[in-house]
Amino acid sequence: MTVSVFIGTSVDGFIARRNGDLDFLPEGGGEPHGYNEFMASVDAIVIGRTTFETVLAFPAWPYGDKRVVVLSSRPVALSAVRGGVVEQMAGPPAEIVAKLAASGAQHLYVDGGITIQGFLRAGLIQRLIITRVPVLIGDGIPLFGTLPHDVRLHHVTTEQYPSGLVKSEYRVAA
Ligand SMILES: NC(=O)c1ccc[n+]([C@@H]2O[C@H](COP(=O)([O-])OP(=O)(O)OC[C@H]3O[C@@H](n4cnc5c(N)ncnc54)[C@H](OP(=O)(O)O)[C@@H]3O)[C@@H](O)[C@H]2O)c1
Repeated sequence: MTVSVFIGTSVDGFIARRNGDLDFLPEGGGEPHGYNEFMASVDAIVIGRTTFETVLAFPAWPYGDKRVVVLSSRPVALSAVRGGVVEQMAGPPAEIVAKLAASGAQHLYVDGGITIQGFLRAGLIQRLIITRVPVLIGDGIPLFGTLPHDVRLHHVTTEQYPSGLVKSEYRVAA
């Protein structure tokens, strides 16, 4: 099982404004920077409830028929999703990964700040692909948070794009 993060941030490390606005990110995901190829390699997407609520408000469900797992400790109205494959789970990240592995998933895409932080703290993320958008927003929802200890990373590759996007891939050291 591989667990990956693929996310866009401001240069100062925020994934959304405090109110959840994503207006500082390039419209439509910006110039192609490997998202479609990454998505094609993923068996299931694990998102936090806040991210789920954000994507529900998009004009169309962005994940097609890919399996999506929404994490929340309370009931979530999944019926609002039309045309998607969505289920809900809750609990320690290790249990969620074990359940998904047992059901055949080999590559998970974990998304949402709090959710990513929980999986990182549990030592369950192997790959971080972070695309920095050339803007400082000063305040917002951070990608990263506190950790019980340092997490060493190996830099795999960094690519720059004409629009100013800079995508870096890291592998979490064992
Ligand atoms: N820049 C980007 O590329 C990007 C990508 C993704 C998201 N975003 C944005 O970033 C913001 C994300 O917000 P966020 O960091 O506050 O939240 P989040 O990770 O999307 O959602 C957090 C919620 O997920 C639930 N959750 C997480 N782990 C859980 C677990 N192990 N078991 C049960 N429930 C669990 C909890 O819901 P309950 O409180 O219901 O229990 C928690 O409050 C949103 O505005 C989103 O649109 C941006």
